[in-house]
Amino acid sequence: MIRILTIETTCDETAAAVVTDQLQVLGAVVASQDDLHQRFGGVVPEVASRAHVERILPVIDQALRQAGVELFDLDAVAVANRPGLAGSLLVGLMAAKTLCFAYDLPLIAIDHLQAHIYAGRISSGRDIFPCVGLIVSGGHSNLYRCQTALDFTPLGSTIDDAAGEAFDKVASMLGLNYPGGPAIERAAQGGDPKRFRLPRPLLADSSRLDFSFSGLKTSVRYQLFGPGRVKKGTGPIFTPNATKHQDEPSENWTCPLFHAQLVADMAASFQAAVIDCLVGKAMLALERTNSKRLCVGGGVAANTSLRKALEAESAERGFELIVPPLALCTDNAVMGAIAIERYYASEFEDLDLDITAGLVRN
Ligand code: KG4
Ligand code: ZN
Repeated sequence: MIRILTIETTCDETAAAVVTDQLQVLGAVVASQDDLHQRFGGVVPEVASRAHVERILPVIDQALRQAGVELFDLDAVAVANRPGLAGSLLVGLMAAKTLCFAYDLPLIAIDHLQAHIYAGRISSGRDIFPCVGLIVSGGHSNLYRCQTALDFTPLGSTIDDAAGEAFDKVASMLGLNYPGGPAIERAAQGGDPKRFRLPRPLLADSSRLDFSFSGLKTSVRYQLFGPGRVKKGTGPIFTPNATKHQDEPSENWTCPLFHAQLVADMAASFQAAVIDCLVGKAMLALERTNSKRLCVGGGVAANTSLRKALEAESAERGFELIVPPLALCTDNAVMGAIAIERYYASEFEDLDLDITAGLVRN
């Protein structure tokens, strides 16, 4: 049996897992940093890398204990070295290199986005290739044509913000907590998705498979606060039952208060706009590439309304849909099992392997 330790520190989750060549998960640990970034309304790179430094060794240790495996028993160490936050990536890479050097183990590089798609291979337990891959996370919104686990061709990506980033920023505008995706999803449950008219950027342009969420974010902002430079606390829409001054904006306000129904309606309208764009382009990608199967990964794929919309549209058009369970959608090290494919292809790295923070066009 081949046993690989996989390490994931691309953004704000410190994770490690032990997986086998039969795709069994012997141990898996994720240490989330949500609590550290909450008050900033988004991930602060410096805070993230420092937290990774503190957590990486205990997390690896716990994953090995769960698996009942000693470092001597391992056959390789794999690490996500691209794309992600530079400081965060470096922590995982240094840990992996050190273990490989000390225990004379081969080093395997993992592309984080490809791993997100491979999560569907693990959860479904069957071959998912060839397929179209849709990755929707805090840092990425990408479409790939995936011929095999080692052959991904980019079809399109966001030209500005990622879908998850838009969820996080809109949540922050509405006074909801970080991470914004789950908060928006909860708020949207009692909301009217038609109350606010929001754009579906690039959706009508069938010549490209790209996304754009920056204008959508701006549109939400204008509808909440009005156009022009927004000074915190001077938005025109206030809750009628706010506990602070209701009638006049006050310089003392640190954050505008919105009526709960307005928050729900905006959350629902925004979520519907994002889902229309993601589903529309995913379907276009399947048609363009003559593919029959769609695999979705990334934190935003945890969104129930998105999953339902993808299910409905795929069923109607006769496509097979694979979306992993929630724990395998957000960042984790189990999806690093894609390293098994590289192990069998003898794709090992030298110990001078570097990180690539930006997107790799392969
Ligand atoms: O894949 P991920 O865990 O980390 C990155 O690689 O970015 O994705 C995190 C993103 C965050 O922006 C978060 O708000 C979003 O996924 N997210 C969601 C949901 N759960 C997490 N977005 C929409 N609905 C959700 N239920
Ligand atoms: Zn991710």
